[in-house]
Amino acid sequence: MKDSLTTRVLVTGGAGFLGSHLCDTLLAAGHDVLCVDNFYTGTKRNIAHLLGNPRFELSRHDVTFPLYVEVDEIFNLACPASPIHYQNDPVQTTKTSVHGAINMLGLAKRLKAKIFQASTSEVYGDPDVHPQPESYWGNVNPIGVRSCYDEGKRCAETLFFDYHRQHRLRIKVARIFNTYGPRMHPNDGRVVSNFIVQALNNEPITLYGDGSQTRSFCYVADLIDGCVRLMRSPDGFTGPVNLGNPVEFTIAELAELVIELTGSRSQIVKKPLPADDPQQRKPSTELAEKELGWRAATPLREGLKPTIAYFEALLTELGAAASRNK
Ligand SMILES: NC(=O)c1ccc[n+]([C@@H]2O[C@H](COP(=O)([O-])OP(=O)(O)OC[C@H]3O[C@@H](n4cnc5c(N)ncnc54)[C@H](O)[C@@H]3O)[C@@H](O)[C@H]2O)c1
Repeated sequence: MKDSLTTRVLVTGGAGFLGSHLCDTLLAAGHDVLCVDNFYTGTKRNIAHLLGNPRFELSRHDVTFPLYVEVDEIFNLACPASPIHYQNDPVQTTKTSVHGAINMLGLAKRLKAKIFQASTSEVYGDPDVHPQPESYWGNVNPIGVRSCYDEGKRCAETLFFDYHRQHRLRIKVARIFNTYGPRMHPNDGRVVSNFIVQALNNEPITLYGDGSQTRSFCYVADLIDGCVRLMRSPDGFTGPVNLGNPVEFTIAELAELVIELTGSRSQIVKKPLPADDPQQRKPSTELAEKELGWRAATPLREGLKPTIAYFEALLTELGAAASRNK
């Protein structure tokens, strides 16, 4: 039986980087959490500390197949998020975004549940407007190697808004910008995890292009706070709303900061830019500030410290496991 004061929340992709932090936050707020994941990029390590919690439940399931559960709210995060992972099986990536959205929206419709979609700044493609406001429609290549992710997420947004218009579903769409923090995947090729792992191993730090391309980096705790505020916002506010940190750094500046904070002996080496890699990416966060009273608060230097500590512990653990298996 449902305790009438408790909200039962489904988190798809709950064993991933962002999903596992969201599960932590929801449980700490007193909710029951059902974490659904197919462990494509997520890992049990991210949620191992929650397995004994009676309010936490884990289910192995692929969101491209229908799911029959009873919940009050849905956070739909299931989708590989880094180019290495989403390009590994691009057809499955599009299916996860599109079929996954259809299945979760169908569930929300049946249950009259509120539903959140983890969309992405990639819906803006290689933007020719800077910073990107939510009103910008984007500049996306529909047939490139990143399209499975970008177009999949764009189609998911379309589905969310059509379910909202057609079936009056309560939807919340967040366009998440580059986020970093503990529990990122060590080999996902994302710039923050790449640089930290290379620096901790004293290996060369690979800079794609000349390093002058800029990115904005949001610390995971800030991002999760924004997602929860969006879910709690009045029903009339659907988004899409940008969630990210508008402070820009060049990739070269990030590399230097990581070398400084890790005390690494790594050298920086330059490689050619991958296809469709955007030159600049920076959110306009005015809407989030106005509607959610939210802005990213953690400076990059501060957020990098726990992230580096996480990777240091992880690499030690993996190194110890590898030598045990020799
Ligand atoms: N981290 C970021 O910077 C960022 C930026 C923009 C958008 N997002 C979005 O946020 C969400 C979470 O991203 P993340 O960084 O935590 O990535 P992640 O890869 O760590 O997490 C994604 C999770 O979804 C699971 N998953 C993938 N396909 C699935 C399927 N078919 N069925 C069930 N589970 C599936 C994975 O196993 C993983 O646990 C994604 O939807 C991503 O597109 C993240």
